[in-house]
Amino acid sequence: MPRKPIVAGNWKMYKTIPEAMALINALRSGASGISDREIVVAPPFTALAAAARALDGSGISLSAQNTCWENEGAYTGEVSPTMLKDVGCRYVIIGHSERRHIFGERDETIARKIRAALDASLQPIFCIGETLEERETGETLAVLRRQVKEGLKLIRGADMGRVVIAYEPVWAIGTGKTATNEQAQESHSFIRTLLEGLFEKNIASDLRILYGGSVKAGNVDGLMAQPDIDGVLVGGASLEADSFLRIIKFER
Ligand code: PGA
Repeated sequence: MPRKPIVAGNWKMYKTIPEAMALINALRSGASGISDREIVVAPPFTALAAAARALDGSGISLSAQNTCWENEGAYTGEVSPTMLKDVGCRYVIIGHSERRHIFGERDETIARKIRAALDASLQPIFCIGETLEERETGETLAVLRRQVKEGLKLIRGADMGRVVIAYEPVWAIGTGKTATNEQAQESHSFIRTLLEGLFEKNIASDLRILYGGSVKAGNVDGLMAQPDIDGVLVGGASLEADSFLRIIKFER
């Protein structure tokens, strides 16, 4: 089965509700009629409800950027997977490098969040990636192996059809430095092989693995031409309709 590409925009801590509405309206008109790739936007929590209404009937999917691992309880400041499902999310980004490195999220917590997201019928976009130091000391593949194994340790093969992985080298996020097509392909193919070992061959070959880290109009086509790159997770360049639409319209 060919893997349908995903182009996802992670808006991070940007966009008020009016700003989010303007961007969604521009995306809706600019991307109408596109059906051979899936478009996903991940606004901040405060704009999710309005975004869900504005996206209704557009074919563009809604994602949150984070979730709690519990469904309800005394967790001041947290938002649960059930609440995200309720507001209209299909996806939730889990384990983004900014969550890991600025907010101290560990593999253990990430594993619980992925489990909780699936239990609430959300599709996790599970982020992994090495730091510059880890790359320079030759630890990239070991780090990816650990993150994949630990992050998916509560997941059965039957759930894997709903999981999306995003490989985002930390040194390429928001820095303007993209991994070369070859570096990205090497990591993606390594991740797919790892999943074959952890689950089954067909699960690994159906899984969508996105690349993230300074994806722009100028580099998306080369990345998407790689056999194991099934889409992109875009930060900065997803905040403006023109640049995000150009990425959405990548050519392979
Ligand atoms: P960037 O962010 O495209 O701005 O590098 C990617 C991400 O953090 O998902």
